[in-house]
Amino acid sequence: MFSFLLAFCFIAGHASADNSASVHGWSDEEMKTLRSLSLSSLPPLPADPSNKYSDDPRAITLGRKLFFDKRFSANNKVSCGTCHIPEMSFTDKLPLAKGMGTTTRRTMPLIGAAYQSWFFWDGRKDSLWSQAIGPIESSVEHGFTRAHCAHLITDHYRREYEEIFGNLPKIDHKSCPPKASPGTGNPEALRAWNAMKPDDREAVNRIYANIGKAIAAFVRQITPQPALFDRYVAAVTKNDRDAAEKLMSADAVAGLKLFIGKAKCTNCHLGPLFTNSSFHNIGLNDPKDVGRAEGIDKVMKDEFNCLGDYSDAKPDACVELRFIDRNKIKNRGAFKTPTLRNVADRPPYMHAGQIKTLFEVLSFYRRSGSDEVDHTELSNADLEKIEAFLKTLSGPLNYPH
Ligand code: HEC
Ligand code: HEC
Repeated sequence: MFSFLLAFCFIAGHASADNSASVHGWSDEEMKTLRSLSLSSLPPLPADPSNKYSDDPRAITLGRKLFFDKRFSANNKVSCGTCHIPEMSFTDKLPLAKGMGTTTRRTMPLIGAAYQSWFFWDGRKDSLWSQAIGPIESSVEHGFTRAHCAHLITDHYRREYEEIFGNLPKIDHKSCPPKASPGTGNPEALRAWNAMKPDDREAVNRIYANIGKAIAAFVRQITPQPALFDRYVAAVTKNDRDAAEKLMSADAVAGLKLFIGKAKCTNCHLGPLFTNSSFHNIGLNDPKDVGRAEGIDKVMKDEFNCLGDYSDAKPDACVELRFIDRNKIKNRGAFKTPTLRNVADRPPYMHAGQIKTLFEVLSFYRRSGSDEVDHTELSNADLEKIEAFLKTLSGPLNYPH
């Protein structure tokens, strides 16, 4: 009986050897989904019409320096790289990020950020350059001012800046006091800002936006490289059973099947970055944070948005902002679907680091009670399989060194 079964399996395996869907028993429909999740489906970096410097190699080089430059902070100790640590998938493993103070949210990984339309957990920014200048004036992150940034650029980066963006305007301490800023929430900084001449304020804003554009050119380049899962899909596509079996365990394969099937994870975690770039309330019930409901007004009022004076885009190109979903009721408690690339390497999880381990995330989904998720039928063994699959999504990252 046993040898009969073995022989049968052998014949069945061979009989369908020319059918690409046979390895590990994937149907044609499932194979389509697998390929759509694989990095081989990731298109080239999308254009950012609001930042005409986004692919300028000089801007990438300057942006990388600014990303790691701690002088752009009140205590000379905080850079973007303090929280977005390259060796930790550009996060920090903390539940709540720490800069000058402690923030109210968890650091997001920057993997494939260029493919997103909205930035931050609440999507209150609509471009990477406009995003980049947010943390600089946040009192708990860099605790800095845009006027002080303009001075640092003038003092330390004049040549590099001017090669990309043209001549720097004249900036001195009298016409532009370093403490001046409209964006820190500090009344003294605001008074100093309001006392500046309109032309000087405009000049500082322009430099500030350009700092964002250079940093964005760097951040844009942070992209994932193939993980075990991507190599598995390539092997299955070629019907290479031996390679496929070495790449993913039976449990991980079963987890993948659940992920794209019964568990409906691909309702939101889809495409090669495993995110729909959209906002959902998955039932975390965070009493302190309404998420996207507040992000909508913030991005619409932002002077640095796609439709603003500092954007390089024609208004027609700002499609996302012009057709923004303004439904605050639906978006109450909704947060951006995070990428699942490298997810196993960067606990804790969720927008405020509420959940410590991947298994706990999956258990949470089962009892979340949100209308948007329905995973009540999954057993503990199912969760372990999904966890095994999620671990195959870790791979090296590409970024300019
Ligand atoms: C104090 C730690 C800290 C510092 C410093 C910091 N970040 Fe962040 N970063 C965060 C946190 C926390 C979030 C999520 C914040 C939120 O949603 O309100 C975030 C979100 C982001 C995002 C959004 C990613 C996405 O998918 O939406 C980008 C991009 C980013 N940061 C880049 C930067 C850059 C560039 C700098 C430097 C100018 C920087 N960060 C400085 C902690 C930090
Ligand atoms: C309705 C959309 C939706 C569905 C369905 C969904 N997710 Fe999520 N997922 C999200 C959102 C949104 C977050 C972030 C929520 C937050 O922090 O407030 C998230 C967070 C996560 C995280 C944490 C990642 C991190 O960096 O914090 C993991 C892991 C995860 N989801 C895996 C899954 C798995 C596995 C499934 C299927 C069982 C699934 N998700 C189904 C939208 C969804």
